[in-house]
Amino acid sequence: MSTLLLVVGVILGVAYIYRHVVVKGKQCTSKTKLHGKTVIVTGSNTGIGKTTAIDLAKRGARVILACRSKQRGEAALEEVKKESGSNQVVFMPLDLGSLKSVHSFAETFLKSEPRLDILINNAGIYLQGRTEDGLGMMFGINHIGHFLLTNLLLDRLKECEPSRVVILSSMAHNFGKIDFDCLNTHKALGLGTSSMELLQVYSDSKLCNVLFTHELAKRLQETKVTCYSLHPGAINSELTRNAGSVFKMLLKPVTVFFFKNTVQGAQTTLHCALQEGIEHLNGRYFSNCTVKEVYAKAKDDAAAKKLWELSERLSGLA
Ligand SMILES: NC(=O)c1ccc[n+]([C@@H]2O[C@H](COP(=O)([O-])OP(=O)(O)OC[C@H]3O[C@@H](n4cnc5c(N)ncnc54)[C@H](OP(=O)(O)O)[C@@H]3O)[C@@H](O)[C@H]2O)c1
Ligand SMILES: *[C@@H]1O[C@H](CO)[C@@H](O)[C@H](O)[C@H]1NC(C)=O
Repeated sequence: MSTLLLVVGVILGVAYIYRHVVVKGKQCTSKTKLHGKTVIVTGSNTGIGKTTAIDLAKRGARVILACRSKQRGEAALEEVKKESGSNQVVFMPLDLGSLKSVHSFAETFLKSEPRLDILINNAGIYLQGRTEDGLGMMFGINHIGHFLLTNLLLDRLKECEPSRVVILSSMAHNFGKIDFDCLNTHKALGLGTSSMELLQVYSDSKLCNVLFTHELAKRLQETKVTCYSLHPGAINSELTRNAGSVFKMLLKPVTVFFFKNTVQGAQTTLHCALQEGIEHLNGRYFSNCTVKEVYAKAKDDAAAKKLWELSERLSGLA
């Protein structure tokens, strides 16, 4: 009896430590305050975007919630204000799946807000289909929308330097590849619709995020604007809301124990946005609040440049 209790006790102890050390991961330790600074967080009506926005508002930043749904955006606005105790929070509509919407967001923002200190490209989607402009859905929203947004706001970031761009990628980028032929002919990273093919396209779009960061850093070398890509961890959020119900049912017990909550999931974003002294890591990839090496394909100069030029064309910038 007592051995059984001991065994159970040890298992619970190990599980507790695992959950509170390994799963929780490192915390952002920066004490940086942001009074007088302005931050944009895309996709901040839920998930880690919302907790990121709350943290930044608590630090005194003026926080722009850039979300596509007026209803969800306005609900989040109330919540972020309440949770942070700040009224320096604004909702501005942005649908990254529409080039027109990205332009109109940038126009409204640049007209009404004098500063931009931190841009957080957080929104992301795991869904097949096409955007309003006929781009592959995940390519269009996860990469092209943010590519255009960043470029439209770059001058304002330069005026406010030192400033930062933080780009949410994923560990999944390790499985990514970029099929330039498919992009050229179909404006999509892949055409398949099976769950494996969707996972592939999601991973591909997250590789685009890392390559975009790599190229952007080079183009910003003469400035004090720096940029970072990151993996936030595996997080209990709404990201898998469109996945099959069997998949979600199987995933549930795993996520409850092994996944971070959204506060834990926001830490690496906050680290990249706030940590003093990481400027020399411009263009690099972070995970668990630490810079990480990436595979050659994720820092391939030629591929990054080619993707940039293609993105300029597909977003109508060039
Ligand atoms: N969760 C994870 O385990 C995990 C792991 C690795 C990387 N990531 C990355 O982390 C980021 C945040 O994900 P999350 O887990 O917090 O997901 P989430 O809970 O699904 O939140 C995603 C946010 O993106 C927004 N969004 C989607 N499409 C948009 C569009 N066209 N225009 C504007 N906003 C749009 C969503 O708005 P709506 O509510 O209107 O749809 C939502 O606010 C994503 O880039 C994701 O790829 C997540
Ligand atoms: C994150 O870093 C902490 C501290 O270094 C470590 O204890 C933890 O295991 C790491 N977690 C992951 C998921 O790598």
